[in-house]
Amino acid sequence: MSAECFVTGGTGFIGQHLLAHLSTKGHTVRVLMRHPERIAALREQIDSLRGVAGRVFAVEGDLEKHNLGLCLADRGTLKNAKAVFHLGAHFAWGLSPEHARAVNVEGARRVALLAAEQKSRLVMVGGYMLRNHEHLQRIGIETRQPELTQWPAVYRRVGAYEASKLEAHFATLDVMSTHGGQVTIVHPATVCGHSRTGHILDGQPLVALIRNLAQGKLTAVPGSARHWLPLVTVDYLIELMSACAFDPSMAGRELLALDDRSPNLRDLLAQVGQALGFRSPRHHISLGLLRLLLHIPPVARFLNSSAEALDFIQTTRFDTLETEQFADRHGIAKPDIRQSLERTAIFVNTHCLGKDRTR
Ligand SMILES: NC(=O)c1ccc[n+]([C@@H]2O[C@H](COP(=O)([O-])OP(=O)(O)OC[C@H]3O[C@@H](n4cnc5c(N)ncnc54)[C@H](OP(=O)(O)O)[C@@H]3O)[C@@H](O)[C@H]2O)c1
Repeated sequence: MSAECFVTGGTGFIGQHLLAHLSTKGHTVRVLMRHPERIAALREQIDSLRGVAGRVFAVEGDLEKHNLGLCLADRGTLKNAKAVFHLGAHFAWGLSPEHARAVNVEGARRVALLAAEQKSRLVMVGGYMLRNHEHLQRIGIETRQPELTQWPAVYRRVGAYEASKLEAHFATLDVMSTHGGQVTIVHPATVCGHSRTGHILDGQPLVALIRNLAQGKLTAVPGSARHWLPLVTVDYLIELMSACAFDPSMAGRELLALDDRSPNLRDLLAQVGQALGFRSPRHHISLGLLRLLLHIPPVARFLNSSAEALDFIQTTRFDTLETEQFADRHGIAKPDIRQSLERTAIFVNTHCLGKDRTR
């Protein structure tokens, strides 16, 4: 089967892999781009990820603009899209609430409206924190009646990136139910590089962690021996997303993309350290103390991190049975997460830390 697809965030890390995957499956993919003149570079990248670049086309637009800034002709072409994949977001710590809402919340609403109006299946990328119900309750999200949530307080509590992703989730569900659209939401854990090549882009949270370890800035493991940073490889994630989009039984459903065999944080750092020949920390520092330290700007700058990042390190375990069953049904194999992590560390060392050394 070959279908027309529309992807936002296609120039990003997960997006590039999704474009490569969809195009090899024979789909025609149109990508929302703020800078459509960069399509040649994107196609090169898709080729290098073993996709079929000739099936990928740019559509000029911006999540922050009314109607996504689409021209009438592009709006017409997109009507043929069987699936709309929404990955576009401003992913960074320290965003202002206004900006995070404009891109991540209003952008999601616009994409949802487009998908609902033209009756395309929407596949929305959320985040695994949306499956941590205790956390949601703790930070004041009213999951049963989201309209009662005091969003400004949530933005203050967890930072603008995470808060805007949470708000975008409920805003999307609201648009889809008001307009009778079909949506599937996929919630990824922190994304690890490709299981075969280790490919990952600089700027990803896992790259920041590996860089800190390499630069000797991680002298203690954040949290306790029970704390972990749940991971998922980018290839497993995009296979799940792509299968969701064309599976009628997944309309109105959510799927957690998380590998429950991800090591705890101490083992994760030890494994990366061993693969790259760096020392990894043995002692722990409590998250409470680290959070306090990260509120001191020079410390946050030195550690190249933010207190906002700490919520993603947790002790909660997740039930992934539904995902395993879905993957089995679609013949999607889950890669070995430890081997993928090692390949990612080697890729980061060569391509990201290598660049740091030549600067
Ligand atoms: N990576 C993770 O560990 C992880 C985990 C859970 C959930 N997620 C979610 O997965 C999605 C993709 O993440 P990623 O890691 O691939 O992100 P990424 O590499 O930072 O890419 C972000 C994408 O969003 C686009 N974008 C940003 N602002 C835009 C705007 N105003 N209009 C149009 N496009 C805009 C960027 O386009 P430009 O090229 O123009 O900047 C880029 O294509 C996000 O929704 C993120 O929240 C990621």
